[in-house]
Amino acid sequence: MEKIILTGDRPTGRLHLGHYVGSLKRRVELQNSGKFDKVFIMIADAQALTDNADNPEKIRQNIIEVALDYLSCGLDPAKSTIFIQSQIAELCELTFYYMNLVTVSRLQRNPTVKTEIQLRGFAESNDAGDNRPGIPVGFFTYPISQASDITAFRATTVPVGEDQEPMIEQTREIVRKFNSVYGETLVEPDILLPDNSACLRLPGTDGKAKMSKSLGNCIYLSDPAEDVRKKVMSMYTDPGHIKVEDPGKVEGNTVFTYLDAFSRPEHFAEFLPDYASLDELKDHYRRGGLGDVKVKKFLNSILQEELEPIRTRRKEFEQDIPAVYEMLKKGCDAAREVAAATLADVRRAMRINYFEDAELIASQAEKFRG
Ligand code: TRP
Repeated sequence: MEKIILTGDRPTGRLHLGHYVGSLKRRVELQNSGKFDKVFIMIADAQALTDNADNPEKIRQNIIEVALDYLSCGLDPAKSTIFIQSQIAELCELTFYYMNLVTVSRLQRNPTVKTEIQLRGFAESNDAGDNRPGIPVGFFTYPISQASDITAFRATTVPVGEDQEPMIEQTREIVRKFNSVYGETLVEPDILLPDNSACLRLPGTDGKAKMSKSLGNCIYLSDPAEDVRKKVMSMYTDPGHIKVEDPGKVEGNTVFTYLDAFSRPEHFAEFLPDYASLDELKDHYRRGGLGDVKVKKFLNSILQEELEPIRTRRKEFEQDIPAVYEMLKKGCDAAREVAAATLADVRRAMRINYFEDAELIASQAEKFRG
């Protein structure tokens, strides 16, 4: 069986370090590994609209930002099909059929949907006096639409962050259900999580659980060097580590979490030769006598080294924006062809392919001849 990757991002803002370590960096490695027959990268604008119905302009503006982030990180249109979800109408049709295979209560139990309902502040019931907005149906059912995204491209592998695990599980259930009802048609995908636990969910610079635009705690891939430095120097560390001599905690200390995610052994020789490894640095911090500034400067050097080539490539792609749109258009055309083939299989399996079914027409003719 062909090995196929599909993954994507909602275009609600520029991409940040959380996206990068959680998935983007891995995608580029997978794309270049030669181990996959096809790679599909989707800008999930239709999914973004499920809770941004009143703000299509935000989504519209961010399509190009996300595309530039992709290209500058090394996603290569010669190796990966980069496309925009809303331009593939076949995905909507698949969703419409899959909806019949999923119960309301199953969606209500989806942990990601549950947390997002909380986060977005949607009212969960019809209680009188609850003035919060209700849950849009499109938002509630987006796990089903995500199953369409994945299965339309017969993806075997979905590289995503940990928060997407319930989505992949729900997709697998839909595939099994579809195949058992209509016959073996769809491919059951596997999730591919980051292997480094610090990368699973990179905290924000303020130490909060997740980098998120609304919390203003992100380091963006496209941030200028000086902004990155400032954000690193003001990062949350151990509030109990006041004087340099004080013993410090590395658990829950954002600077060390970022070092877990980004530092490699060679960085020590390059930027901090007094220490041989991250373990040594952590030991010194725990003992006391190591100041936050020194650790932050080290992290800044590492991040700058990682981000500099990305920024430079972004500047180059920014010089020819029409070419980026053209690349996306080609990607959409290629993606549509693949999704249409899967949709044809689905219609055949569901036996709603009336006009290509000569046997149906002949047997009905027979029946009515009496
Ligand atoms: N839900 C993903 C996110 O919020 C985006 C997405 C949409 C996606 N469809 C997908 C990811 C299919 C992987 C596969 O980032």
